[in-house]
Amino acid sequence: MQCSYFDAAACRSCTLMGQAYTDQLAAKQQHCAHLLAGHPELRWLPAVPSRESGYRNKAKMVVSGTVAQPTLGILDAEGRGVDLSGCGITAQELRDAFPVLAAFVTRAMLTPYDVPSRRGELKYLLLTASPDGELMLRLVLRSTEPVVRIRKHLAWLLQALPRVAVVSVNLQPQHKAVLEGEEEIVLTERATLRMPVGDAVLHLRPQSFFQTNTDIASALYRQGREWVDEVAPASVWDLYCGVGGFALHTAGPDREVTGIEISREAIASAEASRDEAGLEGLTFRAGDATAFALAASEPPELVIVNPPRRGIGPELAAWLETSGVRRVIYSSCNARSLAKDLAWMPSLRPTRARVLDMFPQTTHYEVIALLERPGRPTA
Ligand SMILES: C[S@@+](CC[C@H](N)C(=O)[O-])C[C@H]1O[C@@H](n2cnc3c(N)ncnc32)[C@H](O)[C@@H]1O
Repeated sequence: MQCSYFDAAACRSCTLMGQAYTDQLAAKQQHCAHLLAGHPELRWLPAVPSRESGYRNKAKMVVSGTVAQPTLGILDAEGRGVDLSGCGITAQELRDAFPVLAAFVTRAMLTPYDVPSRRGELKYLLLTASPDGELMLRLVLRSTEPVVRIRKHLAWLLQALPRVAVVSVNLQPQHKAVLEGEEEIVLTERATLRMPVGDAVLHLRPQSFFQTNTDIASALYRQGREWVDEVAPASVWDLYCGVGGFALHTAGPDREVTGIEISREAIASAEASRDEAGLEGLTFRAGDATAFALAASEPPELVIVNPPRRGIGPELAAWLETSGVRRVIYSSCNARSLAKDLAWMPSLRPTRARVLDMFPQTTHYEVIALLERPGRPTA
């Protein structure tokens, strides 16, 4: 893929830009295999390629410039705004929306936040596209001052961008490099974006994590389900479940699935998706994954973990090691932390794994591994 921003050194986020895609994918496979080289019993399934461009379902645009001429993109080293509204890895629906959003900033007189002087109101525009082409827009503001004007011009925005289903304001009053704050004000009737992914329909609320690449997320959840179905466990935990992608894919008759996730918003999303699908035996709870496992009276037959980049860490790994759980499905966006966590669980051996290219043009990727405890289950 070629990118004019990269060529002009305006943005260097996609460090593999310009490299042949087949070479990128092969290098990711090799990188992962190298990190997990200490597991000779591991069989690699073919890596799952992605679309090379337009794959990102979410854009996080820093707003800078002026009310009359806002810039959507990133900040350079000096804190000046760099326009990235034509970023080729973001979905076309997002790119199509940026000029209208810039016009909205002007119309509603939303002063872009200026980092050096700490003045202004609008910090970021966060835009997510569903596979159906619907959009969720979140405006990250320093204060509630512009909310009246946003409400006043909302009808114009919804007419100019009829695919916008959800609009919200997020308040981030602090001057620090944190993308969003805790308070969210939903301005539209609808508070969730409908995301058909794989074989489930997920309902995404504004403050919930969602996998960046919807096609690859579908492949990921289906791979997880395939392994779960092979084992046919009666009980499954989906730890770090987010809005419930794995849990909704693995629910089934005669199976109890429990999803655990720190974000209450994500849990509310997961519950809405479960209720809409009419799935039984599926429970979601907000809380810390490690604390939940350590407090449980008995382990399930299978555990799925899909932690943030830091991995599951020594405490949960040690619990899994001694729990007697026979199979774990570990989905990771950071093979280094996966390798570290595996070292803490020597009894759970990776037997199959697959690289899925969630992030083309960058060195990042997702890997999903099936871990099995050798020996026959005791009665
Ligand atoms: C990589 S995401 C995976 C989410 C989900 N499995 C999916 O496919 O969308 C990691 C999730 O872990 C959650 N999380 C972070 N720390 C946590 C913790 N200590 N306990 C439980 N969940 C946590 C995050 O909010 C996020 O939703």
